[in-house]
Amino acid sequence: MRVFAPSVKLVSLIPSLAPAMSRTLFVTTALPYANGSFHIGHIMEYIQADIWVRAMRMAGHTVHFVGADDTHGAPIMLKAEAEGITPKQLVERIGAERPQYLKGFQIEFDHWHSTDSAENVELSQDIYRNLRAAGLINTREIEQFYDPVKGMFLADRYIKGECPKCHAKDQYGDSCEVCGAVYAPTDLIDPYSTLTKARPVLKTSEHFFFQLSDPRCIEFLQKWTTGSNAQGNKHLQAEILAKTREWLGNGDEKANLGDWDISRDAPYFGIEIPDAPGKYFYVWLDAPVGYLASLKSYCAKIGVDFETLLDPNGTTEQVHFIGKDIVYFHALFWPATLQFSGRKTPDQINVHGFITVSGEKMSKSRGTGISPLRYLELGMNAEWMRYYIAAKLNARVEDIDFNPDDFIARVNSDLVGKYINIASRAANFISKYFDGQLAYPDDAALLGSNWAQAADRIRADLEAREYGRAIREIMAHADQINQAFDAAQPWLIAKTLASAEPAQRAALQHICSSALAGFKALSVMLAPILPALSKRVATELFGQASNFVWADAGVLPSQINPFKHLMQRVEPTMLDELFEIPAQTAAPKQAGASKQTTSGKQGAAANQPAAEQNPQPTVAQAPGGEPLAPTITIDDFVKIDLRVARIVNCEQVEGSTKLLRLTLDVGEGRLRNVFSGIKSAYTPEQLIGRLTVVVANLAPRKMKFGVSEGMVLAASHFDDKVDSGIYVLDPSSGAQPGMRIH
Ligand code: MSP
Ligand code: ZN
Repeated sequence: MRVFAPSVKLVSLIPSLAPAMSRTLFVTTALPYANGSFHIGHIMEYIQADIWVRAMRMAGHTVHFVGADDTHGAPIMLKAEAEGITPKQLVERIGAERPQYLKGFQIEFDHWHSTDSAENVELSQDIYRNLRAAGLINTREIEQFYDPVKGMFLADRYIKGECPKCHAKDQYGDSCEVCGAVYAPTDLIDPYSTLTKARPVLKTSEHFFFQLSDPRCIEFLQKWTTGSNAQGNKHLQAEILAKTREWLGNGDEKANLGDWDISRDAPYFGIEIPDAPGKYFYVWLDAPVGYLASLKSYCAKIGVDFETLLDPNGTTEQVHFIGKDIVYFHALFWPATLQFSGRKTPDQINVHGFITVSGEKMSKSRGTGISPLRYLELGMNAEWMRYYIAAKLNARVEDIDFNPDDFIARVNSDLVGKYINIASRAANFISKYFDGQLAYPDDAALLGSNWAQAADRIRADLEAREYGRAIREIMAHADQINQAFDAAQPWLIAKTLASAEPAQRAALQHICSSALAGFKALSVMLAPILPALSKRVATELFGQASNFVWADAGVLPSQINPFKHLMQRVEPTMLDELFEIPAQTAAPKQAGASKQTTSGKQGAAANQPAAEQNPQPTVAQAPGGEPLAPTITIDDFVKIDLRVARIVNCEQVEGSTKLLRLTLDVGEGRLRNVFSGIKSAYTPEQLIGRLTVVVANLAPRKMKFGVSEGMVLAASHFDDKVDSGIYVLDPSSGAQPGMRIH
């Protein structure tokens, strides 16, 4: 009888699992802009980095894995203004959403911080002072478009006008989307500010520049971009290095690198430039410094000396995971900034491509077609996504596509059908006939050492970010284990076990034990990708005290606990629901029949970002889940007095699971008390300071907690069971409390 043993070339029987030495790593992902929720692109990046970090930790290395919100810049300032809140309030609101995504997808940052923090102010200003002392900062007058109404200089994306070439209207300040022409905003015909529609005027202002064209910078970057660290890891992937050659030249040609404009004029949400009143750092100066700020804040928490950890002559490896759109900043500006301020430079910039969904490229602001939050809310398993993304990733800068059919196939046929299947088949025989005891044929030592070697290859693949290759090898092993199991036909032996020879009984135990040893080894290999599942395999099935480390792969298990169900298959209908607004399960209720709207909406889960919703209703006759109400005349409408209100205060209502108490300024020279059933969707902090709309002439209503003097308008799906969220209405910025809505 053939007993399964992984087919590997036997170079040595001694497993090479122990790492040469224990390394210390500082790992980051790009810091997400704090003006929007996470989309699937962010989640993909974090999953890539999280897998890497876990694989390194399993090898015994120390990893500090930190993230932060990137809070500064004009878009965040303007968005907050439009919502009638401060940038800090906006940043806080978005920051409060982060944990549910990270926890949900098993992404374990050690620490999450913010670029709007004391550490970042101190570090950014310190770095700037050192660059200035090194003679690499100069100032220059530049002429730029200025919005005279808003009192603000305009970045290109806030200027539109007629294309000077093809005369298409409403084209952005840098290029024409119709004919592809590239130009300066001053070339536009009839330019206007997208903020106020005013015609911008040219105005000069002093700007601060980091002199990247300085020969010292060019020389340093030419060396750094081609360099490796002490581990022999290249700083940049080959295709990224090629890209930097275009900017830096090949050494013989002249570099094509301009100085970097690092200042912005007030009003700007950012960090002040020392000794330059009214000037702020451009967000991209302080954003990567946020990596250091987050680490510093984490160091204080765990009692590690930050400066020692990042000693330029020390051994800590600094590794940044980023997407292909922000290479310029990370492969040129960031290393130069660090080098010439006397700090440690990065060891590895790991660049990934973009994730598309069903082949469609998604816009940065709209995110992608699948909402990570909706994925979780539908009860879809985070490890399916982790596995799928890992299976698609490699170390090159290639885009990957989320394809629903491919997702179902890989999860159901490979992950569940091949890998999980091994344990569910073999474990039952062992529990039923051998009281959970495992026993191996004579070549057990060989089996263990082969698994150790296979795991070492997977460990190396994961470190090299060849996740797809690792998964292909893991699945090939799963196929072999299943084939060996099938070939041995253990179910036939089991049938006649009572009358079986001892040798046959042993054969049954051997084939199941070998399969389970393989399952354990594969679980070790998959542990960085499937953290929760592998933990259950380690502790529940194999009775280990702790999570798997790499060395566990070569240790043959001696017993198991009874098998418990490990993973569900994906239901194809889940994918339909992920891509669409859920169809009504029941026939729509009649409008106005029984719905209590006075105190707002109830029951729906909060925070589904509106921008990520599919805007196509599936039930055309019942938009938002309910048919339109009977026609009314304008006379009916004017009876309802809708007014702009400022939420001057908001608090929890003790004893109520649904209500928030709002204090509203409706411009009447007094404040109103209004209860609203929006607690599931908002925290008081998210609402204070915002403008909204109130039904101002609704008869006051006595409620359990006090009198409600009006009703705040909010949107939600008609069916409370549909988790589409609750959205309080906001007038556009500029509206004043008391204005009537006509
Ligand atoms: N705030 C900057 C980064 C500052 S780092 C000091 C930023 N933020 S972002 O929110 O726009 O993007 C954050 C990361 O998500 C970037 O690495 C970006 O490449 C990545 N992705 C954005 N869209 C993506 C996909 N569709 N697919 C994969 N990654 C994507 O840029
Ligand atoms: Zn044009």
